[in-house]
Amino acid sequence: MDHQAVRPAIVVHGGAGGSRSEEDGCVSAARLGMDAMPQGALAAATAAVAALEDDGRYNAGSGSVLCLDGRTIEMDAAVMDSKGMLGAVACIQRVKNPVLVARAVAATPHWLLAGEGAERFARIAGFVPHYHASERAKKKHAELVKRLGGTSPATPGVANAAFSQYWNYALPQAFATDDGCDTVGAVARDAEGNFAAACSTGGSAPSLLGRVGDTPIIGSGFYAGPEGAVAVTGIGEHIVRRLLAHTVYQWLASGMPMDEALAHGLALFPQEIDIGIIAVSRSESGARSNRDMPRAEVSP
Ligand code: GLY
Repeated sequence: MDHQAVRPAIVVHGGAGGSRSEEDGCVSAARLGMDAMPQGALAAATAAVAALEDDGRYNAGSGSVLCLDGRTIEMDAAVMDSKGMLGAVACIQRVKNPVLVARAVAATPHWLLAGEGAERFARIAGFVPHYHASERAKKKHAELVKRLGGTSPATPGVANAAFSQYWNYALPQAFATDDGCDTVGAVARDAEGNFAAACSTGGSAPSLLGRVGDTPIIGSGFYAGPEGAVAVTGIGEHIVRRLLAHTVYQWLASGMPMDEALAHGLALFPQEIDIGIIAVSRSESGARSNRDMPRAEVSP
């Protein structure tokens, strides 16, 4: 392909199951990403996700949900581009922008750092300690406590009692958390024809300590290659079983039109599972979800 002819594009989302009234944050993030596009697709996608982490209305970074103990915040994030950059963090605590730590991991000999090691790496890389339990997270936490005490499953297909049975927090059991599994993400195509994906999440609630979903797992929550980039949102336990991001990427790489590939991706899941997908290919971009999903697409 004549790289001179490539039109840059960026698509971002604020999580399947989120409110489209919060779409203004996605628009701002996409514009910030486009501002960074001269530095390449990876810089653009990373800048957009960092902005979504800072927004506070999405389940990532400063808006991350509280874990079941009502205190811990564990976050996951990842970045990948079609030139071979790949970095991720899982269950990282006390950082403001997990996606920037994931970007820093991409410069190390490893692709994924988790837990205490990820946090210690963040300090060495210059990220200062940061803990922020937002009012939104505290309110949702209180609501989830109530739901866990009821008979209706807080997570589709999972008995509420499982979280009590396998309780693994240091603090004694005191149900309180946020109900949700939203994620933020961005995919970008730059003027050189390179692609990148970035994503970040505060994880799902309710969940046990140390739980990792799809967001930092290559091919599940994100994928970027020579034919495009894909980022997804939804319940990680379901997404990883379908390797959703790579599955959609392969459909796009084989020439399937964008709308069809995204629709096929959603159709892999039962309706009660929240799923959203964003993608860019050589000639198209798109976003699709089976719930409301704040999103934005920007091209120059
Ligand atoms: N998709 C976010 C998660 O399952 O953690």
